[in-house]
Amino acid sequence: MTAANIIDGKAFAEGLRTRIATVAADFEAKAGRKAGLAVVLVGEDPASQVYVRNKGKQTVAAGMESFEHKLPADTSEADLLAVVEQLNADPAVDGILVQLPLPAHMNEQKVIATINPDKDVDGFHVVNVGRLATGLPGFVPCTPLGCVMLLKDRLGSLSGLDAVVIGRSNIVGKPMAQLLIAESCTVTVAHSRTKDLAEVVRRADIVVAAVGRPEMVKGDWLKPGATVIDVGINRVPAAEEGKTRLVGDVDFASAAAVAGAITPVPGGVGPMTIAVLLRNTVVAAHRNVGLSLDESAL
Ligand code: GUN
Repeated sequence: MTAANIIDGKAFAEGLRTRIATVAADFEAKAGRKAGLAVVLVGEDPASQVYVRNKGKQTVAAGMESFEHKLPADTSEADLLAVVEQLNADPAVDGILVQLPLPAHMNEQKVIATINPDKDVDGFHVVNVGRLATGLPGFVPCTPLGCVMLLKDRLGSLSGLDAVVIGRSNIVGKPMAQLLIAESCTVTVAHSRTKDLAEVVRRADIVVAAVGRPEMVKGDWLKPGATVIDVGINRVPAAEEGKTRLVGDVDFASAAAVAGAITPVPGGVGPMTIAVLLRNTVVAAHRNVGLSLDESAL
């Protein structure tokens, strides 16, 4: 039985995209050009191709310009760096995203370090990581920022709440912890080596699961009434022979019986990532041409 409120990330992302479209139209009227997002895809990874196609469609739907650069899997690192440099220098490009993972012969950190930090709408450049850690304005990775938006929409102020982040990746776990610290939560970062994870999770008012292990977090680990944000997207075999289904890092059925609110998979955190990417792009566009914008209203 489901007791928890379901946090509808799909609906929240739709509302955010509507607000972004208004801001993007205002930008175009003032700047005389559309805000622009460049996405670079190297190789033919099927999941990455789907992401990139969706990003392009949603960028255009929000009234922004989408530039797509598709490079073959055997592109040299030097050639990829040259594309990034060209986008850094292009005044029509406000945001640059290099789709990860990159082929094994490329150094991801080197590629990210080549992106102009003021066009780094993924928030992966060390300059933006440092800005987030020190409270300076920069760009914040899209998925964790989307999680915080959902949490604040549900709970209002997060101040003083106990938060447990499960996972310590550069893309989700670490920036998530930084954002929750900035919201005055008491933050614990747990991971695969954490002793008695269930006991750690049981203390939390907020649980963010980003470990990449299907249905790992169980309902009886949770404090009753906790808010659960499930970042996991795992494809597992379905009951029907030959079929698959998507599940999160949280065992939804047992968790929903104990939690106060929980994001479903799919339809929870997933739709937020691209919506926040569009938000970061329209913010970048304003900053890059020196136009003011109330970023807190987005
Ligand atoms: N691959 C999967 N998610 C992401 C993302 O948010 N940004 C980039 N650049 N690559 C990804």
